[in-house]
Amino acid sequence: MKMATDKIQRTLAMIKPDAMNRAAEIEKVIQQEGFTIVERRRTRLSRPEAEEFYAEHRGKPFYESLVQYMSSGEVLAFILAGDDAITHWRSVLGPTKVSQARQQAPDSIRARFGDPNNDSHNAAHGSDSVTSAQREIKFFFPDLTLEAGLTGEGAKEYLSHAVSPTLVRALTELCKVRPDDPIVWLADWLLVNNPNKPAPSH
Ligand code: CMP
Repeated sequence: MKMATDKIQRTLAMIKPDAMNRAAEIEKVIQQEGFTIVERRRTRLSRPEAEEFYAEHRGKPFYESLVQYMSSGEVLAFILAGDDAITHWRSVLGPTKVSQARQQAPDSIRARFGDPNNDSHNAAHGSDSVTSAQREIKFFFPDLTLEAGLTGEGAKEYLSHAVSPTLVRALTELCKVRPDDPIVWLADWLLVNNPNKPAPSH
């Protein structure tokens, strides 16, 4: 079993309109790479939404075509959790431009699923930093809340057998790592270290 490190993160992954017909294959890669899918949402971005999502690129030569492309059809957004998820997902994506991805990382998602005739139609997106991940996750999942706790008769006994052993490990790690956002860290740790989670198939 893969040991958890102290860098469990969340990132926003998005399958872009040109690759929606390959979404099942891309999702398989996500699973094979060992990410935990925390949430998913299929939606079509309006033009103003695409402008807002890519606001940091406003003014760049490719901005107008990017906004047009990203609002041209449905997208599928995921919150992924895992060890070092931001960097890990970006390495699975490969270089931004499809031609570079095909040359430098032929097994990457952008090489395999990007449009060979259009460098910008690169199949999928990934947050590039912790700050972007937080912003982008909030953009697609503004109402995200954590599950309510367990209450009622027998709960204490049940928790001591079924949950405490994992929770004690989680809380020990949490105290060692002291992450900035302990609740989100704990939620992700539990997803990644769920003892009942199926092993990645690679
Ligand atoms: P993405 O990772 O979603 O972030 C910005 C997007 O703009 C990028 O993928 C491409 O789809 C598009 N793009 C087009 N040209 C460029 C470029 N020269 N540099 C960065 N992004 C580009």
